[in-house]
Amino acid sequence: MKTKQIADGIYMLSMNVEDILFEGIWSIANGVTLNSYIVKGEKTALVDGVIGWDGAVDTLYASLKEIDVDPSKIDYVIVNHMEPDHSGWIDNFKKINKDFKIICSPKAADLLDSFFGIKDNVTAVKDGATLDLGNGKILSFHLVPNVHWPDTMMTLDEESKTLMSCDMYGAFGKIEEHFFDDEMTDVEKDNFEEEGIRYFSNVMGTFAPQVGKAIEKTETLDVKIIAPGHGPIYRGNPQSIINDYKRYCSYRMGKGKNEISILWGSMYGMTERVVKEIREMLEKDGIKVNSLQMPYVDTSDMVSAIFRSAGVIIAAPTYEYKLFPPVAVALDEIGRKKISKKAAFCFGSYGWSGGAQKEIMELIEKYKLGWDFVEPVEFNGRASDEELQIIKDGVEKLIEKVKKIAE
Ligand SMILES: Cc1cc2nc3c(=O)[nH]c(=O)nc-3n(C[C@H](O)[C@H](O)[C@H](O)COP(=O)(O)O)c2cc1C
Ligand SMILES: [Fe+2]
Ligand SMILES: [Fe+2]
Repeated sequence: MKTKQIADGIYMLSMNVEDILFEGIWSIANGVTLNSYIVKGEKTALVDGVIGWDGAVDTLYASLKEIDVDPSKIDYVIVNHMEPDHSGWIDNFKKINKDFKIICSPKAADLLDSFFGIKDNVTAVKDGATLDLGNGKILSFHLVPNVHWPDTMMTLDEESKTLMSCDMYGAFGKIEEHFFDDEMTDVEKDNFEEEGIRYFSNVMGTFAPQVGKAIEKTETLDVKIIAPGHGPIYRGNPQSIINDYKRYCSYRMGKGKNEISILWGSMYGMTERVVKEIREMLEKDGIKVNSLQMPYVDTSDMVSAIFRSAGVIIAAPTYEYKLFPPVAVALDEIGRKKISKKAAFCFGSYGWSGGAQKEIMELIEKYKLGWDFVEPVEFNGRASDEELQIIKDGVEKLIEKVKKIAE
């Protein structure tokens, strides 16, 4: 765990976590940080903690001692969000500190009881409430319900205008050295944009409307430093992550980069042959293509690529009267994440009766995604030259649609 001072009396403690599935689902090839914060006035407050694993909790205590904080003497724990990646440690903490108070939202108070049986010394705050730690350190609390969970809030240090934003403004990706935006190289910034989109699409995407409200709230707070629970701290240009988050919200609602993702699968190569032709055609046109062959491509990467692309091509054969299952599973996940209003086109091979294209439309309808489709093409066995031409014409039409919505 690394410790860094980020403003007068405010310290970050950051731990890299790797080799886990985040939320038990998402592979995080490049890890993720769990960021915890200490605010020192006359009293000491800890804002968000770490996951409840023994090793992580011990590391947190050791790091607190490095910045002269005795964990058993911490006065307040501010729980911005009860998800265990931030709050799992509290179960252990109550064994070593008998006298701390918890500040959280009313919804988090219910979860404290149901997760850890904690009822006493809990203050459930209203939006805008403050806590005076003495020595000029006043914290204010800003409820952002359903930014991930119904309990979420953000904590602002009124003096330095540091916003400890928990999941809001977060990103995947571990950090070894450069924790602040103004220290990062251009390559690191690009990596964090990619990891930010992956985090947003995997974890936050479903809640984009509520994220939009949290952005509006942030803009009323005159924030100078944004200190999330995952990823880098923005002190050089806090507006940059606010703008990025606005952009990510728009990707969920139909905008996208000038990229086309091909979500595809093939059993014996009939559909694959056409995918290859289409891919070459798009690349010749200078369009960035993400080739997502299911089930080989990781779900986290698949969701992230579809999320950020203005255009999507679904190419899959019929399997037992329905859509090739790995592509159906992928589309189901895209539906759960409510990735809406993309420009799209689909095609695929069938042997006797077909059915894949019908199920694609059923899934889009089921999740009310409102994708704007070019007329689908279903071909029998190997696509003829004529069918190939019809598919290429379909791709041209898709490119026109993508041009209208790409940023
Ligand atoms: C396990 C399996 C199940 C299939 N089920 C159907 C089906 O229900 N209806 C149909 O029209 N074709 C069905 N087919 C035929 C394929 O859709 C057809 O062979 C197609 O050309 C495969 O394209 P691909 O090589 O891109 O996988 C099935 C093929 C396999 C191997
Ligand atoms: Fe969360
Ligand atoms: Fe989190």
